[in-house]
Amino acid sequence: MPKVHKRHDPSDIFIHWFNAACWFLLLLTGIGLIRNPAIDPFGSGYPEAMRAMVGGGGNLLLIHEFIGLAWLVGFLLYLVVNFKGALFFLSEVFPVSMGRDMTWMMKKIVLMTLGPKALKMVGLDPELPDQGYYNMGQKAFAQASVVGGVVIAVTGVIMFLSDRSFGAEATGMISWSIALHFIAVGLVFAGLLVHIYMAAISPEERPGFKSMFTGVVPDGYAKHHHRLWWEKIKTEGE
Ligand code: HEM
Repeated sequence: MPKVHKRHDPSDIFIHWFNAACWFLLLLTGIGLIRNPAIDPFGSGYPEAMRAMVGGGGNLLLIHEFIGLAWLVGFLLYLVVNFKGALFFLSEVFPVSMGRDMTWMMKKIVLMTLGPKALKMVGLDPELPDQGYYNMGQKAFAQASVVGGVVIAVTGVIMFLSDRSFGAEATGMISWSIALHFIAVGLVFAGLLVHIYMAAISPEERPGFKSMFTGVVPDGYAKHHHRLWWEKIKTEGE
């Protein structure tokens, strides 16, 4: 049997796909809540159709809020079940090595757009620096989704409470929450398009995609894509 390494705990796999499903439903319902001809991403037909489907804008807002609260509860439960896993994730995605990780990022962007010749032309080796558990592209998206997720959740709870318990004195905070909620969703969504391409469509990352279901990756993939992690598990164990 080919050698494999454990990459994700079942609770990590669950929270990832739970998060993805919530994101999908929150985007579907959230975009339906925007009814402004100047900025409707899919034109005015989409919000109208969504509202008609659920019996009006009030119901659509309730559904959006319910999914948002379920998303929050799901994350809190995950923290209870696997707090150590969450700490490991944060300790892997936030530290950035200016030399190694930034060089990886710059070279990767050039390799994916202009190809290796462009790097050779300016006297650079097209070989990418070794990466750890996450490469710099994964780290950048993970950082954006953690910070963006916290902003979306906090501003979402403020907006949820604004209809129920805040008075007129909270108008400034609520206006800022609305603006920040939109900005954070926009930023994470932009990263999400790249994330989905890199994680699910790009053939070289196929073993990483499968690992989001099986929890394991082949030895060769770990060695080639996450060399520093591979070396660590060789010396320190899984
Ligand atoms: C169709 C949707 C999605 C697909 C196919 C997908 C796929 C994947 C895969 C295959 C990995 C594992 C990478 C590895 O460890 O080797 C991963 C990791 C991750 N995903 Fe997703 N994902 C999706 C949606 C999302 C969403 C909506 C978010 C958050 C907004 C998200 C956040 C993350 C994060 C933070 C990681 C860990 C860091 C990384 O690998 O980028 N994913 N995803």
